[in-house]
Amino acid sequence: MESALSGEFLRVVEQAAIACARSIGHGDRKGSDRLAVESMRHTMEELPIDGTIVIGEGERDEAPMLYVGERVGKGMGFPTIDIAVDPLEGTNLCATGANNAITVLAASEKGGLLHAPDLYMQKLCVGPAAKGKVYLDATPAENLRAIADALHRAVSDLTVVVLDRPRHDKLIDDIRQAGARIHLIGDGDLSAAISAAVSGTGVHAVMGIGGAPEGVLSAAALKCLGGEIQGRLIVDTNTASREKAEAMGVDFNRIYKTDELAPGEHIIFAACGVTQGNLLNGVHLFGDGMRTSSLILNRNPRRVRFVQTVYVNEGENITVRF
Ligand code: FBP
Repeated sequence: MESALSGEFLRVVEQAAIACARSIGHGDRKGSDRLAVESMRHTMEELPIDGTIVIGEGERDEAPMLYVGERVGKGMGFPTIDIAVDPLEGTNLCATGANNAITVLAASEKGGLLHAPDLYMQKLCVGPAAKGKVYLDATPAENLRAIADALHRAVSDLTVVVLDRPRHDKLIDDIRQAGARIHLIGDGDLSAAISAAVSGTGVHAVMGIGGAPEGVLSAAALKCLGGEIQGRLIVDTNTASREKAEAMGVDFNRIYKTDELAPGEHIIFAACGVTQGNLLNGVHLFGDGMRTSSLILNRNPRRVRFVQTVYVNEGENITVRF
């Protein structure tokens, strides 16, 4: 399944990134998101799968497309696949031209990705070295000590990414007290979670509360990269009700581990840069074509691929540019 469908899902995220690339910096986050959603929906229609969105753009009544429960792909007779999507992760980043906006999805066999409504999630993400050595309910100081030991360095040599939100004031104080450095980001904790599992990015952990879809997508990526996420789902007044979530099987007391957020035996994770980022370049437009930069991860067999694709306009006399 993974090798057969990876190229198809690569095309889905590439097309979505291209679709919203010309809206970068236009200040219209909803418009950019709509372009990515419409593109993904359209490209997925042609996929040889019987797909279901298990975590996505929200509820059916609020999200016209790619809502939780929506069926995608050619349908009956094709492999049944569960899909988690965040068509444009970092809508504000795209609207303002800031770094790290990506188009992203994960796919798995049925039941391979947590099925949940649009909630928040308290998260702790680390790379392979610190896997199994941290605990969501430990203090930031305890977790930072464990990460520092795993990476054979001082706590003061660690950088933790935290979303810049008032809800994180205490967390930020605690991390500073412990002596670690903080990179505050405006949006995009999914890109940060991936970076935590890639050596050399300078990101050693992600802590704090962000979106649950981003948490499930992080789990899919971290499972392929050998890292770890622990997450606890949280109801916010603006999101789905507790009862609705519980009816879907969500346990608000539980700390979900990587394998519970993304239990799939087979996982495909695909992301494409929209704006320039730490791991992926943004979409480069060069008049007679464009270049995209994507990451494809597979679980079984484990593969990490960075893919650059140059699209050239039909009939043009082109020069492929770097
Ligand atoms: P969008 O792409 O939906 O705008 O989400 C961006 C993001 O920053 C995520 O990376 C993060 O998980 C979530 O929003 C945090 O939510 P909030 O902005 O409500 O604090």
